[in-house]
Amino acid sequence: MGTKLIGTGSYLPERKLTNEMLESMVDTNNEWIQKRTGIAERRIAQHTATWELALEAGRRALADADLSADALDLILVGTVTPDYFTPSVACMVQGKLGASHAMAFDLSAACSGFVYCLEVADSFVKAGKAKNILVICAETLSRIVDYTDRSTCVIFGDGAGAAVLQASKGMDGILSTYMRADGTLGECLKARALPEEDPLGETRDAHTDRFLHMAGSEIFRFTAAAVPEAIDTALGRAGMTADQIDWFVLHQANVRILNMITARYGLDPDKVYVNINHFGNTSGASVPICLDEMKKSGQLQAGQSIVVCGFGGGLTYGAAVIRI
Ligand code: UT7
Repeated sequence: MGTKLIGTGSYLPERKLTNEMLESMVDTNNEWIQKRTGIAERRIAQHTATWELALEAGRRALADADLSADALDLILVGTVTPDYFTPSVACMVQGKLGASHAMAFDLSAACSGFVYCLEVADSFVKAGKAKNILVICAETLSRIVDYTDRSTCVIFGDGAGAAVLQASKGMDGILSTYMRADGTLGECLKARALPEEDPLGETRDAHTDRFLHMAGSEIFRFTAAAVPEAIDTALGRAGMTADQIDWFVLHQANVRILNMITARYGLDPDKVYVNINHFGNTSGASVPICLDEMKKSGQLQAGQSIVVCGFGGGLTYGAAVIRI
């Protein structure tokens, strides 16, 4: 039994935050941002919940797949910016879609959210527990970004991407996966949910430390080993080599990481998809947003083999090989 990708969708808030706008907010400049990250602008949600971005991306993916919400068995949402501890974003989407036969839950794997969701979706299919699955990654990172901290506020953006996966008897679909985590490096990318306290014994202070802290260069070093490890292992498990892959669709964290992978595998740069210039780093949403852009522009075609790869908070990392 295979797990085939039959539809994609995405939704980006309209409001743009350009490098020029950031120049007037923090001590930074367009040249530094472009050279060190490849980012020119990112999208920022305004009075919009994560579930609203997720819902629209999910609706678009279902329309692309020509599948009704009623046919869904599972809705998975990868997010680190849920609107509530409960209900989950996935349950809110399930309710709004009227997906009355689906179970629904969120998955927290930060920038590896999409590939982790693929792993879970594929496992449900292979266990015979689900036939039609909606995977959505949605983030409103602007809600946890400190817009006085130049080391993070130039990087992150908001957005959502989605994919519909379906059990298939053919050989297409998810050919292999490889997922890992290294929690010893968790401090490198951190955003607190709740403070530790004695709720009965102390004055409960207003919770102020809501912002994301990132040790960017440590994560950069981590990716230099983790990303090739994930790609090599996923390729090996699929019995394939890099030259047999049509597209490398990696988490859009930094164009220098994408260039590093292009050089390491001796790839044609046109095979490594890049859209970080428009959207910045949207965490787990970046890979499905790329896939949707590629599908809508006709670049992603049936029969192609692609590598998808995520890495980030946790720290987590992983890759999958998919035949479209
Ligand atoms: O998506 C989840 C996982 N996250 C990642 O994968 C992020 C990976 N890391 C990165 O993408 C990069 O480390 C960053 C883009 C975050 C930072 O780039 P870097 O080349 O590692 O810069 P750095 O942190 O080593 O800083 C170099 C210099 C410093 O100044 P000094 O100490 O050399 O004088 C920083 O203070 O650049 C300075 N700097 C800035 N300058 C202008 C840091 N941020 C900015 C800024 N504008 N926005």
